[in-house]
Amino acid sequence: MFSSATSPLFTTSVLMVFMASWCVPAGRAQTYDRCQLARDLLHKYKLPANQISQWICLVRWESNFNTSAIGSLNSDGSLDHGLFQISDLFWCDHQQGMDSACGLTCESLRNEDIKDDVICAKRIFRQHQHLTGNGFNAWVAWRLHCQGDTDSYTADCNTSSSSPSAANDSSGADRERKPQLAAQPENPQQSNSNWLWSPFSQAFPTGWLFF
Ligand SMILES: *[C@@H]1O[C@H](CO)[C@@H](O)[C@H](O)[C@H]1NC(C)=O
Ligand SMILES: *[C@@H]1O[C@H](CO)[C@@H](O)[C@H](O)[C@H]1NC(C)=O
Ligand SMILES: *[C@@H]1O[C@H](CO)[C@@H](O)[C@H](O)[C@H]1NC(C)=O
Repeated sequence: MFSSATSPLFTTSVLMVFMASWCVPAGRAQTYDRCQLARDLLHKYKLPANQISQWICLVRWESNFNTSAIGSLNSDGSLDHGLFQISDLFWCDHQQGMDSACGLTCESLRNEDIKDDVICAKRIFRQHQHLTGNGFNAWVAWRLHCQGDTDSYTADCNTSSSSPSAANDSSGADRERKPQLAAQPENPQQSNSNWLWSPFSQAFPTGWLFF
C-alpha cells in the first residue's frame, strides 16, 4: 500500500527532474544568433554603435558565436574561454575567480549568460586601448580578420530597438543609414514578447526565461 501510494509521486518527481535537466542546458554548447548578439551588445550591454560590427567580426573569428567555446591554440598552454575567447593566463581562473583580473571563473565565461563576458571584454578593451591606442588589439582574431571594413558582419541585421526609450540611443546612426526601417508598421506583439526571444539559434533554453 505504501509503495503504491508513493509510486505516482515518485514517477512525477523523476519526470520533473528529467524535464528540468532537459530544459536547463548546463554547460551545453550554445550558438548565439549573430544579429541577436549585435542587438544585445548595442541595447542590452551598451557597446558603442560604431563598434558593433567589429565586435561581431571578432566573435565570429574567435568563437564562431559559441558561448561555451574553449580554445587551446595558445603556444604557452593557456586556454581561451567563451564567446570572446578570454584567456585564463590573466583574466579568469579555474578556482574561485578571486585572483583573476576580471574576478571571474573561466567556467562562468563558458555559460550562456554573457553579461559577465561582456563586462570582462570591456575591461580588456579598456586596458589595450590604454596600452596600444586600440582596444581591439587585444584579440588576435580581430587583428587578423577585422581591421578593414566590417560592415558586412551586421549589414543584414535589424539592430533598431522596439523600446521607445531607445529613440535617442547610440543606434541613431544605424537608423539614419536605413531610414526605410522607420516606415515599417509597428508590431504590437513584439515589444511585449521581446524578452521571450531566445538569443540562441539552436535549442530553446528555458533557463533564459528567468533573466
Ligand atoms: C562549442 O564549443 C564546445 C567546447 O569547445 C564544443 O564542445 C561544441 O561542440 C561547440 N559547439 C559548436 C556548435 O561548435
Ligand atoms: C526592426 O526591429 C524593430 C524593433 O523590433 C521593428 O519595429 C521593425 O519593424 C524591424 N524592421 C524590420 C525591417 O524588420
Ligand atoms: C533626443 O535628443 C535630441 C538631441 O540630442 C533632443 O533634442 C530630443 O528632445 C531627444 N528626444 C527624446 C525623445 O528624448
